[in-house]
Amino acid sequence: MSVETLYKKSTYYITTPLYYVNDVPHIGHAYCTIAADVVARYKRLRGNKVHFLTGTDEHGQKIEKAAETSGETPKQLADRVVERFKGLWQTLNISYDDFIRTTEERHASVVAQFFKLVYNKGDIYLGEYEGWYCQPCETYYSETQLVNKKCPGCKREVALLKEESYFFRLSRYQELLLKYIQDNPQWILPEFRKNEILGMLREPLSDLSITRTSCQWGIPVPDLGAQVHDKDGNWLTPKKTHYIYVWFDALLNYISAINYLSDAGGFLERWPVDVHLVGKDIIKFHAIIWPAMLLSVGIPLPKLIYGHGFILADGEKMSKSKGNAIDPQAIIERFGVDALRFFLMREISFGQDGSISWQALENRYQSNLANDLGNLLHRSLAMLEKYFQGKVPASDESHCQPVDSAFSQFAVATVEALEPLVQQFKLHLALDEIWKLVSRANRYVDERAPWTLFKHGKTDELAVVMYNVLEALRFLALLLSPFMPTTAQRMWEALGLTGSLTDIKKTSWEWGKLPVGTQVQKGEPIFPKIELATAV
Ligand code: MSP
Repeated sequence: MSVETLYKKSTYYITTPLYYVNDVPHIGHAYCTIAADVVARYKRLRGNKVHFLTGTDEHGQKIEKAAETSGETPKQLADRVVERFKGLWQTLNISYDDFIRTTEERHASVVAQFFKLVYNKGDIYLGEYEGWYCQPCETYYSETQLVNKKCPGCKREVALLKEESYFFRLSRYQELLLKYIQDNPQWILPEFRKNEILGMLREPLSDLSITRTSCQWGIPVPDLGAQVHDKDGNWLTPKKTHYIYVWFDALLNYISAINYLSDAGGFLERWPVDVHLVGKDIIKFHAIIWPAMLLSVGIPLPKLIYGHGFILADGEKMSKSKGNAIDPQAIIERFGVDALRFFLMREISFGQDGSISWQALENRYQSNLANDLGNLLHRSLAMLEKYFQGKVPASDESHCQPVDSAFSQFAVATVEALEPLVQQFKLHLALDEIWKLVSRANRYVDERAPWTLFKHGKTDELAVVMYNVLEALRFLALLLSPFMPTTAQRMWEALGLTGSLTDIKKTSWEWGKLPVGTQVQKGEPIFPKIELATAV
């Protein structure tokens, strides 16, 4: 019996990481969330039930320190910054189904219970930790992992800390995970990220320190009795009060949010998660620590962990200190939300790092959006107004030339080509494929020259050509809606179609469903000319 059958899974479940609230959202956060949104919208469009989860990571020293600096309590800071995230997601049209904050009770209670379950399995023990701690990364490193005595991740100063700590027996799962990854080569994507993880698993894995005594902004370790066991099974009395390490806490959101331990129905419908979409810097947490936690209590593993690349500003890593962090708001003000969504998904090969620049944005806006797509829609609607008073004509097959059927077949093939590309997160290639249809449609209009057909009174042929172009535009609205929901809806309405693109019927995907007689509405250009300016 497959895990799916056992788990009655009926929903496509997709997650983003939980964003830290010590900083306001930037383009890197927007990137991951937009990608997840595109996939969630695409899946819904193809008739799947979807659960799309995002949220915020609100515990730990990083947040505690940031709150100290801003003169707030950590909770006040979190309450303030979470609104920035929610506000940006609303602006960006992110269609999440649930937003979880790690300070919520529904989460905290699962974390405490889960900790106990793992302890009862014998996978948590009390010990003492000594190591080099990077506070911004909330990570301990061994001496050999340091680079020039600094954090190998962010290159900042580290401090030697020693504290009583609970440990998770990560080492126990090393072999199992190694084998799992070898047996399931598509479990971590892209492939080169999987190889990085395999490399890590071939080195000895240490047990993981999963509590802190120095930072109290976290979920307290639940009551485990007066005495707890150490690594070798001896009973000890803890000397300190312990709080759960922020990563052990935050990773559990993926199951706390879907009611693990409280509502078996909801959980079983969604788990195992179809994909954890994460940035390359946090794959290790998702592909080693998280699966080991799940294995410990016997929960099935996620189906896919996808690690995307980083967005660079003109080739460099964005950072506050370099002052080159791009604020999504600035791009939205100049180009609009959909242009930003399109640009991020089209410009960067999903999975790789990629640069963004104002120049590249301007180029894509002008050529792909305003010229290719905007003009296709505008000129098609203008011709329909001129030749058929804006009403979709009936297309008689007997007047259909081979060039016309070749064109409709091309449009149908585009729909089919998209499915595997989205499935494999080749989102830039999916857009590329859609643009092939846009170009093909523009070429088709040029080749069939409706103005000449009109001039020579070939009304039946003209009707075939106009119907085909408009039907291709209807397909384009459908295909583009996950990427550019507002633009697609405007296209839909311009074509005289009613209802929301988020609520379409399966038959909408069939060629020829544009009703004859529909009155189109040309309206304003969907991508108006913008002032071209130099870099900001
Ligand atoms: N709180 C943890 C995740 C816990 S998940 C259980 C965290 N938060 S974060 O706010 O620092 O980062 C969240 C995500 O943003 C990560 O996936 C990270 O890769 C991504 N990005 C941060 N900067 C980025 C870019 N410049 N480009 C693309 N994504 C980047 O880690």
